[in-house]
Amino acid sequence: MFTMVQLQFPTTGKAKKEILDQLQDLRGQDANWRDGRTWSLVYYGGEDISDLTRQAYQLFSQENGLNPGAFPSLRQMETEVVSMTADLLGGGGETVGNMTSGGTESILMAVKTARDYARAIRPEIRQPEMVLPVTAHPAFSKAAAYFDIKAVYIPLTEEYLADISMTKELINANTILLVGSAPAYPHGVMDPIEEMASIAIDHQIPFHVDACLGGFMLPFLKKIGEPVPDFDFRVPGVTSISADLHKYGYASKGASVVLYREDAYRQHQFYVRSDWPGGLFASPTMAGTRPGGAIAAAWAVLNYLGQDGYSRLADSTLQITRRLKEALAAIPGLHILGNPQMSVFAVGSEELNLYAVADELESKGWHMDRQHLPPSLHFMVTQAHRESVDAFIHDVQKAIEAVTGHPEAYSEGSTAMYGMVGSLPDKSLAHGFMRDYLSSMTRKH
Ligand SMILES: Cc1ncc(COP(=O)(O)O)c(C=O)c1O
Repeated sequence: MFTMVQLQFPTTGKAKKEILDQLQDLRGQDANWRDGRTWSLVYYGGEDISDLTRQAYQLFSQENGLNPGAFPSLRQMETEVVSMTADLLGGGGETVGNMTSGGTESILMAVKTARDYARAIRPEIRQPEMVLPVTAHPAFSKAAAYFDIKAVYIPLTEEYLADISMTKELINANTILLVGSAPAYPHGVMDPIEEMASIAIDHQIPFHVDACLGGFMLPFLKKIGEPVPDFDFRVPGVTSISADLHKYGYASKGASVVLYREDAYRQHQFYVRSDWPGGLFASPTMAGTRPGGAIAAAWAVLNYLGQDGYSRLADSTLQITRRLKEALAAIPGLHILGNPQMSVFAVGSEELNLYAVADELESKGWHMDRQHLPPSLHFMVTQAHRESVDAFIHDVQKAIEAVTGHPEAYSEGSTAMYGMVGSLPDKSLAHGFMRDYLSSMTRKH
């Protein structure tokens, strides 16, 4: 049980300066991403980009993308962002799409579209199923839970890829969507998109490629000569793609694109209502009000960087990633999981307690991302890590020494939590405390 403190709604307002000072103070408690001490959440491209997106966001922070008729500026910017992204991802004149608030909303829309398309053309399906690699982002299982679809998970190969022969077995008469990731979050590994697309064609089902992470990175790695397989609309059978502007697109938070090969299919994404007393209501995505700032900032950064700028950043980010990966892999006991192609990867270990290592690193000011099944530490590299790789490697070595010297000292924190979850035969037994954790996050105590 949490004891709650009831905060009173302020009776009078405060001075602007006092509030801004307070905001600066609050920021002081946050993970230190500016010095490259976090490995997720913030995708930093450089000060010039942050400055531009901040200004663009500010210019449109009050405008609302809900009604494109009222703000032709936002309509134009969204149309251009969608069109430029479609061009980047191998789309043609028929490709359509929308901006959303992020990867999760793009994925929710793609799954709902597949469900409603199936309802229209295959009404005999009573319990729709979606076949997806177990590594696909939880936004898909969330969509399955929200839209009453059964999630059927494809197991992984030893290389952490969706197993193709299992994919074929798991598709049945109720399957309404197949999913692959380019790459998947946990290990940064790309699923075999071309093979999956050909299975989708054989079974005449839609195939969604989640390029939330790779959409604005893989095409540029390819451009600079890296061996990146096709993963987008260049592959026949890919029907929809999600690509996040607010990740390696370097836009302000709240920006992603969901694309469809053709408009007839995208029609199933829309919500319209013609008998509401408030007027004719037509909404393309989940959100009602849509922040103009996020649209303007995304438009600004795409035009600012262009192909040259993104290729330069992709190249430089790959170099930093290689430095980090090689240094980590050279530490006895650590190895990279699978064959991650871009700037996202995971480090595993057969002999070390990685959760204890992570707890030790956190005590030194690093913000670490733990994974399980199998245990690993997760890394997403950006320009923020240019100067922090060496210090990190030094601290990892020290942390391993500390943990192997005194394993008994690491019986709390994430070590204890993951140890407990690891011992549960049925992982859903953890759901109760996970919900309590969420509950505690918005209570003052
Ligand atoms: C591959 C992938 N898909 C989807 C998402 C969800 O994106 P968002 O957090 O913007 O909702 C993420 C987030 O990290 C991701 O890595």
